[in-house]
Amino acid sequence: MPFPSQSLLFALNFFLHPSMLGSLVPSSRFVIHDVMAQVDWDRARVVVEYGPGVGTITRAALERLHPDATLVAIEMNCDFVQLLEDEIRDPRVRVVHGSALNVRKVLAELHLPSADYIISGIPFTNMPASARRNIVRESRAALQAEGAMVVYQFTRTVLPYLESQFTSVRQNFQLWNILPTHTFYCTP
Ligand SMILES: C[S@@+](CC[C@H](N)C(=O)[O-])C[C@H]1O[C@@H](n2cnc3c(N)ncnc32)[C@H](O)[C@@H]1O
Repeated sequence: MPFPSQSLLFALNFFLHPSMLGSLVPSSRFVIHDVMAQVDWDRARVVVEYGPGVGTITRAALERLHPDATLVAIEMNCDFVQLLEDEIRDPRVRVVHGSALNVRKVLAELHLPSADYIISGIPFTNMPASARRNIVRESRAALQAEGAMVVYQFTRTVLPYLESQFTSVRQNFQLWNILPTHTFYCTP
């Protein structure tokens, strides 16, 4: 459960940048649970998160992340980057101000290998189709052969783009969220 100040910052930023955020409130604990359950935390050494926001998923991931693993959180909104840098003091985390589109460049600059998992909470629905296609393609290219991408979304708009890049896309649906949320588990 985020602190009231985090929820307030999130809501304020929704009114300033509605399509970048795509949601008025952070994900519910039910969505967090669904997303966390898709990851093999014993195996994962490089985990990338797109759109951490105020860190709702980030904090849950850190509770499970292996001591030798790295979590790269890529966020476009500078208020959230500042908050994450101020509040999450964990040597396993790298907060990067930028776009998910540059995931491969980000990993290379951090001298990290391809990702074991990408967890994506960015609002694909609100993007132009070209951005959606390019981010999904770059994500596929940034994953290990045994890796997986976990995408949670209010709509299924991104599904054909995922299906065009990944061999398998498993779907789940969580009613207990504002708004109800689809989860897609994608493997190369
Ligand atoms: C719906 S919020 C999700 C926040 C948080 N992960 C959660 O589940 O509560 C979407 C987040 O994605 C960020 N975002 C949108 N487009 C992005 C992009 N291309 N790259 C990185 N972050 C992006 C927004 O700034 C926002 O923080």
